[in-house]
This record gives sequence, C-alpha cells and structure tokens, in this order.
Amino acid sequence: MSLWQILVSYALLGAAVLSLLTYWITKKFVLRKMNRTIMKVEHNYQQQIASLQMQLSGKVNMLEGMVNKLRLSNQELTRLNEIRSKFMSIAAHDLRQPLSSIQGFASVLMMDSPQGGGNNDQIALNNILKATDNMNMLMADLMDISMIESGRFKVEGEPFNFNALVSDVVTLQSVNAQKKGIFLQKTSYPVEITVEADRFRISQVLNNLIGNAIKFAPQGGRVETRFFVEDGWVVCKVSDNGPGILHSEKSKIFDKFHQSDNDRNLKKQGWGLGLSIAQEIVNAHGGEIGVESAGLGQGATFWFKIPQVPVKAEGSPPETK
Ligand SMILES: Nc1ncnc2c1ncn2[C@@H]1O[C@H](COP(=O)(O)OP(=O)(O)OP(=O)(O)O)[C@@H](O)[C@H]1O
Ligand SMILES: [Mg+2]
Repeated sequence: MSLWQILVSYALLGAAVLSLLTYWITKKFVLRKMNRTIMKVEHNYQQQIASLQMQLSGKVNMLEGMVNKLRLSNQELTRLNEIRSKFMSIAAHDLRQPLSSIQGFASVLMMDSPQGGGNNDQIALNNILKATDNMNMLMADLMDISMIESGRFKVEGEPFNFNALVSDVVTLQSVNAQKKGIFLQKTSYPVEITVEADRFRISQVLNNLIGNAIKFAPQGGRVETRFFVEDGWVVCKVSDNGPGILHSEKSKIFDKFHQSDNDRNLKKQGWGLGLSIAQEIVNAHGGEIGVESAGLGQGATFWFKIPQVPVKAEGSPPETK
C-alpha cells in the first residue's frame, strides 16, 4: 500500500467518523430540542382547542336555552293572540244585541217625540242614533278582523253587474258628500261589466274607499270614481283632492289600526280598520289593492282590481272574451 493510499484511507475514515459525530450531536441536542419544542407547541394548541371547545359548548348550551325560551314565548304569544281574537269576536257579537235594542228604542222615542228643530230630546236621540251607528260599524269591522285572524274569513262568488254596484255605492255615499259640499263624480263605463265575486264584500271595499275619499277631501272638494276592464281584470279607481299620502306611508296604511297623523279630528272619525279589511277582501278574490299619490297635499288615488272570473289556480286571470 502506497503512502498516498494510506492517506486517502485515513481521510475517508476521518470523514466517516466526523459525519457520525455530527449526526450524533445533531440527534442528541438539536433534534431532541426541536422535538421538545414541537411537543410543547402541540400541547399548548391542544390546551387552547380544549378551552375553545368548552367555551363553544357553553355558548351552544346558552343558545339552546334561548331557543327554548323563545319557543315557549312564541307558544304563549300564539295562545294569548287566540284568546284576544276570541274575546274580540265574543265582545263584538254580544254587544250587537244590546246595541240594536238601544237603536230600536231610540228610533221609537224619536218618532214619539214632538218634531221641531231645536227640540233637546230630538237632538239627544239623534246623537244616540249616530253613536249606535258608529258602534255598529266598529262591531262589524271587529267581527271581520277576528274572522280574518282566525282564518274563517271567506268570500263567495256569484255573477253580478259591476256598473250597478258602483252606482249603488256612489248613491249611498252621495249623502255624506253633500254634507261636505263635495262633488262626487262617477265616470260610467260604456259596457256592462259582469263580474263573478262577492258582491257584498266588494261593495264594502268600494264604500270604504269612497268613504275615505269624502272624509279626507277638503270641504267643497272633489271625489271621482271610475272603473274599466283590462286583460281580464276589473279595475276600479277612487281619486280625491285631499291631503294625499306620504310615499313612506304607502305600505303602512293597509296595516290594521294605522292612521296618518295629518289630521287629529279626521283620525277620530275611524279606527284605521277599513283599508286592512279591504285589502283582505281583495286578496281573498285573488286581486290587488294599492294607492298612488304624488305626496302631501297632492290628493290620492286608491285602486283595486279583481279577476272578472275567479282564478281557479295560481297565476294570471283568464283572458276576457
Ligand atoms: N283618501 C285618503 N286620503 C288621505 N289619507 C287617507 C285616505 N284614505 C285613507 N287614508 C289614511 O289611511 C288611514 C287608514 O284608512 P282606513 O280606512 O283603514 O281607516 P279609517 O278610515 O281611519 O278608519 P275606519 O275605516 O276603520 O273607519 C286613514 O286614517 C288615513 O290616515
Ligand atoms: Mg276608512
């Protein structure tokens, strides 16, 4: 073996010993330290995850408790609502009997009392009759609301002459219009419209719309009713030159008991039920109701439309022939 070969062998042996030494030192100190650090970090994370899991399950329990409470409150509210609705219906129903007795006796007394403009008895009896009329209207509205709320509200369809219905309602309302010097106009439709709907309920809607228009129009104002047929719908519009409706209030005025704040005296002449009942009636016919107004002081046009022939299934009404 030459010296050169001996030197190379030693060098290789030295390199092998050195790499073994390096591996041993790395494993003993560096890797072990790294392992320890990793384990520590892992342990920390595990602790954090465990504490987060505990917090989460606490929150889940809290949420479940809240959901249960809400469910109970909801059940209680539904129960109270049913009681309120039942009470309203019983009260409205049972008050009608004594009310019609008061009305009957007052009418008899009115006929018996000596006639004369300034007669105190007559004035008092007149007031009693007016009050009972108002009470009767309220009772009827409350009965309707309670039927709507309990899902018992139904409309019945039968064919009738829409032109005649509008004439009847306008004639009925002309007494109120005259009292305020209001020009109550009806634009007649040239063709007779036969519609299949609930005549009594549709006249209730129109009575409310024209009644409102007369109530809210100024003294000596103007109220116009017009109607026509369009694509199978009977459309009816009532316009007035009254205070109009704020844009922000357009959706609210069909809510139960909602009344605008613009006139306190006019507010007292109603309960804010008419439009909500009208909306239910129109909806029950598969129709739509709405209002157009350019804003306060600009007058209002209330409109509703119902299918000329009842719609059997969901969708648009049949075409007119
Ligand atoms: N033509 C109108 N012009 C301006 N405001 C109107 C008109 N019609 C209705 N409103 C507003 O909408 C509110 C609700 O009308 P709705 O007919 O439901 O109730 P009401 O007439 O006050 O009372 P009720 O009809 O129960 O006797 C009214 O109080 C009024 O503020
Ligand atoms: Mg009204």
